[in-house]
Amino acid sequence: MLDKQILLLPGPTPVPPRVAQAMARPAINHRGPEFVRLLQEVTRGLQGVFQTNNDVVVLTSSGTGAMEAAVANLLSPGDKALAVSVGAFGERFIQIARRFEVDVEVMAFPYGQAADPEAVAARLERDKGGQIQAILVQHNETSTGVLNDIRAISEARRGHPALLVVDTISGLIAADLPVDAWKVDVAIAGSQKAFMVPPGLSMLALSRRAWEAVERCTNRRYYFDLLAAREQAARGCTPYTPAVSLLYGLEEALHMVAEETLAGSFRRHALLRDMVRAGLKALGLELLAPDEVASPSVTAVKVPQGLKPSDIIVPLRERHGVIVAAGQGEVKDSIFRIGHLGYVTTHDILAGLAALEDVLDRLGIRTRDGAGVTAALRVYQEGRAS
Ligand SMILES: Cc1ncc(COP(=O)(O)O)c(C=O)c1O
Repeated sequence: MLDKQILLLPGPTPVPPRVAQAMARPAINHRGPEFVRLLQEVTRGLQGVFQTNNDVVVLTSSGTGAMEAAVANLLSPGDKALAVSVGAFGERFIQIARRFEVDVEVMAFPYGQAADPEAVAARLERDKGGQIQAILVQHNETSTGVLNDIRAISEARRGHPALLVVDTISGLIAADLPVDAWKVDVAIAGSQKAFMVPPGLSMLALSRRAWEAVERCTNRRYYFDLLAAREQAARGCTPYTPAVSLLYGLEEALHMVAEETLAGSFRRHALLRDMVRAGLKALGLELLAPDEVASPSVTAVKVPQGLKPSDIIVPLRERHGVIVAAGQGEVKDSIFRIGHLGYVTTHDILAGLAALEDVLDRLGIRTRDGAGVTAALRVYQEGRAS
C-alpha cells in the first residue's frame, strides 16, 4: 500500500524536500564556528519574518514552551494580566499564567468570534493605576480558525503601559504581524506551522520594554531563562544543546520564505483560505468563523447534524489519505479543522475537497457533482484572495 498522505493539519504542516535535505546534514559542534554562523543566519531570518529589529531568541521546545517562557520571564507572582481569549489556546495561556501565580483576569469571547478591541480599550481605560502588566492574546486562534486584529488590540492600549504578548504560533508568515510597527512586545512562534519545519523549535521576539520586564521579573525559570538565551545568542550560542538539525531546516525554510517574500506568503495563504471556504460552502457545510475574521491558516467546519467529527475524519484518512484535524476545547465534538498553512498548495486543497465530497456522499450528504472543487477552482482562477 502507498503511504502518501495529504496533510491538511493546522500544524505540523508538510515539510518541503529542501528543508528535509537541509536537516540531513552531518552533525556539527554546537559550540563551534559552523553553529555560530547558523544561529546568526537563522536569527537574521527570524527578525525578517517577525518584522523586528529587536532581539529574537530560539528555544528547543514546542510552542507551548515559548508561551510558558513568556509568562515565567515577564510576570512575577501576584502580577496582574488580562487574558483575551477566543478559544482553546487562549485558555491554555490562562492556565499557564495561573500556574505561575499570575493574577489573571479573563476577557473571553465566544468560540468563532474575534476579540473586540473596544472591550480591551474600555477595560484598560478603567485600570487607572496601571495594575494590568500584560495582555495575553492569540494572533490566530487555531482551535476556531479566527484571526484577531492585533493592530487594533495594540492601539486599544492608548498609552496604557501593559505589555502586549501575542501568541502568533499559527499566524506568523501566514498573516501579517509587523511586530515593531504594531508595537507588539512579545511575539511567540513555533516551527511546525507556517515555517514548514518539523515540531521542536519555538521563537520569541521581545521589545526593549519586554526585556526590561524580564530583568525585573522574580518568577522562577531555569531552562527557559530568556536572559541566558539572549546572552548566549549574542555569542552565537545557546545555553543548552540546541536542536541543530531543526535549525538547519529552519535556515532553509527562511530562505524559502524570503524567495516567496512575506507579502507573497500572505497572498498565498489568503488564496488557500478563500478556496477552502468557497469549496466547503459549496458542499453545503457551515463554517465556525465568519468571513470577516477568517484565519488564513486553518478553517473550522461544523459537522452536519447527526454526525460525529470522526465520521468524516476517519474515512478521509482511510479512503483518501487526506489528514484533517479534530476539534478542541468546547467545540471538540462539533467541528473538524482543515489546515492550509505552510507547505500547502492549491492542488492539495483541490484534492482535499474532492475527497471530502466523496466522504460526504457516502454519508448520504449529496451535492452537485464536483461542487466543492468547482467553487474552489473559480476562486483560484479569479485570484480572488481578499
Ligand atoms: C495558537 C497556538 N498556540 C499554541 C499552540 C501550542 O503549540 P505546541 O503544540 O507547539 O506546543 C498551538 C499549536 O497548535 C497554537 O496553534
